[in-house]
Amino acid sequence: MCGIVGILGKAPVAEQLVDSLKRLEYRGYDSAGVATLEGDHLERRRAEGKLKNLEKRLDAEPLKGHTGIGHTRWATHGKPTENNAHPHATDRVAVVHNGIIENFRELREALEKKGTVFKTETDTEIVLHLVDSFLQKGIKPVEAVRAALSELRGAFALGFIFAGDDDLMIGARNGPPLAIGHGDGEMYLGSDAIALGPFTDTISYLEDGDWAVLTRKGATIYDKTNAIVHRDAVKHSASTSLVDKANYRHFMAKEIHEQPEVVGHTLARYIDMASERVMLPVKLPFDFKDIQRISITACGTASYAGYVAKYWFERLARIPVELDVASEFRYREAPLRKGDLAIFISQSGETADTLAALRYAKAEGVHTLSVVNVPTSTIARESETVLQTLAGPEIGVASTKAFTCQLMVLASLAVAAGKARGELSDEDETKLVHGLVEIPRLMAAALTLEPQIEKLARDISKSKDVLYLGRGTSYPLALEGALKLKEISYIHAEGYAAGELKHGPIALIDETMPVVVIAPYDRVFEKTVSNMQEVAARGGNIILMTDAKGAAEATVDSLVTIVLPDMASAFTPMVYAVPVQLLAYHTAVVMGTDVDQPRNLAKSVTVE
Ligand code: F6R
Repeated sequence: MCGIVGILGKAPVAEQLVDSLKRLEYRGYDSAGVATLEGDHLERRRAEGKLKNLEKRLDAEPLKGHTGIGHTRWATHGKPTENNAHPHATDRVAVVHNGIIENFRELREALEKKGTVFKTETDTEIVLHLVDSFLQKGIKPVEAVRAALSELRGAFALGFIFAGDDDLMIGARNGPPLAIGHGDGEMYLGSDAIALGPFTDTISYLEDGDWAVLTRKGATIYDKTNAIVHRDAVKHSASTSLVDKANYRHFMAKEIHEQPEVVGHTLARYIDMASERVMLPVKLPFDFKDIQRISITACGTASYAGYVAKYWFERLARIPVELDVASEFRYREAPLRKGDLAIFISQSGETADTLAALRYAKAEGVHTLSVVNVPTSTIARESETVLQTLAGPEIGVASTKAFTCQLMVLASLAVAAGKARGELSDEDETKLVHGLVEIPRLMAAALTLEPQIEKLARDISKSKDVLYLGRGTSYPLALEGALKLKEISYIHAEGYAAGELKHGPIALIDETMPVVVIAPYDRVFEKTVSNMQEVAARGGNIILMTDAKGAAEATVDSLVTIVLPDMASAFTPMVYAVPVQLLAYHTAVVMGTDVDQPRNLAKSVTVE
């Protein structure tokens, strides 16, 4: 998604703007630009593609201004060309924008009728000309922005600077996040605290509908009624080192390898090791005994974490669970029973559809609980209860460590629910907790399979299509495996419930089709073996991910068997996620794709 940064500095800011944009690269983008105030006029440098292209432009034609805004653009309206890249500017004002202006067509028509000439295909340009039209009438910048904001409909974060005013920057937020950074005689604007990490650790987050007027002395924040409001300045620990790849070639590799550690941190937050009990870090405002149904809503990988959790909640706590992808949930007007529980899962905590679903659920009077990685995010702030995953910043666009940390939180919650409802005894809980405590060690053991998986990836990279199969909790993991492979290697992949194979996808199987079967030796193992037989009978190449017992018992020849450590079967997806992620990662590396920023993808999807 687009990234925004702005600096009111004491020295030239162009280089700092680009450094900050680099920290926003993880969000995904296809062009970038900066604008600074040079004397009393605005100048821009923009470039298609990666930030290095923008850096080249700046080397050739440096900018020296102390006031500037920068942007990484993830195209929504109009192609990712230099002309469509932000900042957009007139002689009077420059703007950067993240989000979508829904009523841009009608506003554009109105301005065109008055003679405004539009030069880009973007919805952002309407914001520019709207503000500019007020400035042209002699209205001062702050009033011009206030007037323009009142006409805009949609989801947006905006940043403005103005010709002739070196000590002014305006930010506005209606949907996508925007943070203000407080420095020593300097002020900043950024899409998140990570962007501002090198400059300051003191951050105020704008609420929805807020807009802020920044000078080097500080910020005045207004809410949607234009009343001055106070937003706390909080300390944030997004240090400069957070965007370091350490010795890894890609963030994704680093993040896969961090999992034993961060899943361990998450575990320590939710389990009391001494008493071997689940101990949630917050008191729940409801009793699981009163919950008749849980609805879980999320997007992409987070929704697969939710899908795994559905099995856990239903099995361990006997609570029926409905699972939806947020883009469907928000519009299907699901009837929710007051007092029931709705769970939202999101790494970024900013995904527009998940946020909209949360707001819908709140309005229906259900308890809302979010599992988020960014505790200062909008979803976290708007949820009744927040359970944080302690994955740390996830920079690779493809989610890895956030997924397994989500699973750890959801597993703990499902055990707590089972206990509260009397479905699990103390003994059951202790056994399950033992299973959870082993996970980080088992994940570390799974990582040692990397050389075998790297070798396998060379074969997979020659395929056009790959099928992933699983049963029970391995089914959502099969969906996740297919998603991971297609998003970073661009190889087509599908995940299926193993038992569903014969209802259609079996027609695809021939000797060119690798079929990844995720099958720990659990109570559905034998059923999965039957499905493997169906694949083998049709010449499909089976790649079996199982444990020692499963490898011994599988009566079907597989091309490759990846043998994972034995473990308590309830929580296998956290460990089996590791080879699934490694396979996608190494296949993408062989394919030579942009692993950390795959084409067309954004890390934080703040538009519908
Ligand atoms: C896939 C991936 C996406 C995200 C999805 C939700 O690897 O990363 O599918 O899981 O966009 O994002 P969050 O969790 O930030 O709501």
